[in-house]
Amino acid sequence: MKTQVAIIGGGPSGLLLSQLLNKAGVATVVLERSSRAHVEGRIRAGVLETGTVQMLHEAGVGDRLDREGIRHGGCYLTDDDLMVRINFKELTGKQVVVYGQTEVTADLYNAQDAIGATVLHDVSDVVINDADSDAPYVEFTKDGVRQRFDCSYVAGCDGFHGVSRTTIPEEKRRAFERVYPFGWLGVLSRTPPANHELIYANSGNGFALASMRNENLSRYYVQVPLTDKVEDWSDDRFWDKLKQCLPYDISSSMVTGPSIEKSIAPLRSFVSEPLRWGRLFLVGDAAHIVPPTGAKGLNLAVSDVFYLYQGLIDVLQKGDASGIDAYSERALARIWKAMRFSWQMTTMLHQFEGEDSFAAQMRKATLAQLSQSETARRELAENYIGLPY
Ligand code: APR
Ligand code: PHB
Repeated sequence: MKTQVAIIGGGPSGLLLSQLLNKAGVATVVLERSSRAHVEGRIRAGVLETGTVQMLHEAGVGDRLDREGIRHGGCYLTDDDLMVRINFKELTGKQVVVYGQTEVTADLYNAQDAIGATVLHDVSDVVINDADSDAPYVEFTKDGVRQRFDCSYVAGCDGFHGVSRTTIPEEKRRAFERVYPFGWLGVLSRTPPANHELIYANSGNGFALASMRNENLSRYYVQVPLTDKVEDWSDDRFWDKLKQCLPYDISSSMVTGPSIEKSIAPLRSFVSEPLRWGRLFLVGDAAHIVPPTGAKGLNLAVSDVFYLYQGLIDVLQKGDASGIDAYSERALARIWKAMRFSWQMTTMLHQFEGEDSFAAQMRKATLAQLSQSETARRELAENYIGLPY
């Protein structure tokens, strides 16, 4: 079988790229290891930058997002009871949209169905062959049958644990990594959000985040040691911890209830360079991971797709390879800035086990500076709402 672009992975990166390419008349096939139900059921972050919203519109999946997404003109950073509002709208003229990645994925799948795109689920043993030649091909097993697609290009959209990155020979790539000594315990509950805007809380009891999906669905996180298991955390223990981290004005009126999802995710910063090897391109989590503190994971995947999509259209439809040649450099320039922001937010807001007494004072001073300096708040706002493409 033949296609123009073989896309490995049917998460947000792969689906968005496939949707945009199909709309532009490029033939693609998406090869996804898991079932559709599994991919659609994953709970991930939920803050979309303006550029992400524009790209989703361009892909034809902006309608439900416009109807159901919640526009946020600001967020709060807190230090015990000090609440600092970052007014995105006033500082940057822009806002973000709170809309779960789970919904983005569902919208993309529906759009792919409507457009008749080929998305193959439950495929195993994907192998990318001859990516450094003019005639790459991918092989995989589906329903017990080994199959093959010849293609012009391969997009590696298969996340951190996928096969694409490691298809690039080890001596041709370089990894940069920081692993943080804590994870986030996340809880979803059918309760009204603690606040109408997100709260990123630094406190003497550690970090917490109060987020939301809609007016009766809240998403909360607290930092936990990496050794903790979900089973260690009853709902009561979680709510107690969360309340200890949030400002009293918020925790005293917060509505709690049974959790409907609870999971622990480790925090990591990771970049693999370059993003291209011959005709193989890495996109999204396959190439980089950010800690969730800056809400950049999905947004970065979308900016990668933006650069690659343009490059692929130019080369496939106009014979102009300049876009794919520049892809790695252009995407990485933006990735590293988002890496810096996510690392800075993480460092500013979390307790590090075994840290000295100086570290907590630095966090306090950073938040005090944010509360007093519009310049400091503007810098944070510019990064949070998303740097230009
Ligand atoms: N073969 C086929 N599919 C694979 C393989 C493989 N060997 N390995 C992984 N996959 C699939 C996964 O099952 C998953 O559905 O690739 C997909 C990758 O999706 P994500 O991990 O969601 O990565 P990506 O699409 O780049 O999304 C960007 O932003 O906030 C982050 O982690 C968040 O998923 C989000 C990401
Ligand atoms: C979420 O709502 O899940 C969420 C929001 C903001 C973040 C991370 C996660 O920074």
